[in-house]
Amino acid sequence: MKNKIVLVTGATSGIGRATAILLAERGAKVIVAARREQMGQEVVEEIAAKGGEAVYLKMDVNSEESIREGIHWIVDKYGRLDAAVNNAGIVRIPTSLIDTEIKDLEEVFQTNVIGVFASMKNEIQHMLQTGGGAIVNVSSINGLRSMAKSGPYSSSKFAAQALTQSAALEFANQNIRINAVAPGPTTTEITAGLEPSIIKHLTDIIPMNRMGDSEEIAKGIVFLLSDESSFTTGATLVMDGGFTA
Ligand SMILES: NC(=O)c1ccc[n+]([C@@H]2O[C@H](COP(=O)([O-])OP(=O)(O)OC[C@H]3O[C@@H](n4cnc5c(N)ncnc54)[C@H](OP(=O)(O)O)[C@@H]3O)[C@@H](O)[C@H]2O)c1
Repeated sequence: MKNKIVLVTGATSGIGRATAILLAERGAKVIVAARREQMGQEVVEEIAAKGGEAVYLKMDVNSEESIREGIHWIVDKYGRLDAAVNNAGIVRIPTSLIDTEIKDLEEVFQTNVIGVFASMKNEIQHMLQTGGGAIVNVSSINGLRSMAKSGPYSSSKFAAQALTQSAALEFANQNIRINAVAPGPTTTEITAGLEPSIIKHLTDIIPMNRMGDSEEIAKGIVFLLSDESSFTTGATLVMDGGFTA
């Protein structure tokens, strides 16, 4: 990843943060994008303290204007965008379909589907002008198998899978590779809010009997961004401790 210009959305915490740190360790110039500025600056400082290079970019993936302006800023500053991780995402606690408000579905789709779509659209427009690139969308095992009471989240991740494959097919012969990762339950801010009984249930049903670490997911993402996966596009790398097996 040496000297590659890489955007990571949702890089203030969890999987995005771990990915930004690993990318910088591998020599990339990382754009740490998300809404919480102080946390973004802390990630940048952590990367700098380890000798890496990163910059914080305030970006709200719920706004296409914010995405467009942010990516223009990157291209103005660095001259190109080599790779992107569309990781920003939200979940909702499991809720019965009959108690789920339409606005909950809309909010989850706004970030997890429209946010990914708008990010890919603006990233690919620039990648086409500079000869190619690589994109990883952070999906979920819920984008491969649904679960009771998780309609909004699960359907948003199924949609993210479809967006990934459609874009991968369209740009496969233009040197832009587009893949997804599908993490299983992973210890991050998202899971920190879950009841201990839910965490216990999750670890019980995962064959490895533990949750994943953000750093483990980051390694899969970096593999898919790197030339190590040069013949891989439209694929989903499942990292779930054996759950979907
Ligand atoms: N943790 C898991 O078990 C798990 C499993 C499978 C898939 N995933 C997926 O992994 C991705 C990362 O989640 P995580 O577990 O690392 O959770 P997290 O620690 O809560 O991180 C979510 C990140 O998304 C950012 N974000 C949310 N809404 C945004 C918006 N509108 N604009 C820009 N950034 C936004 C947040 O930053 P700001 O609030 O600063 O904007 C934060 O950095 C998500 O797509 C999630 O669905 C997680």
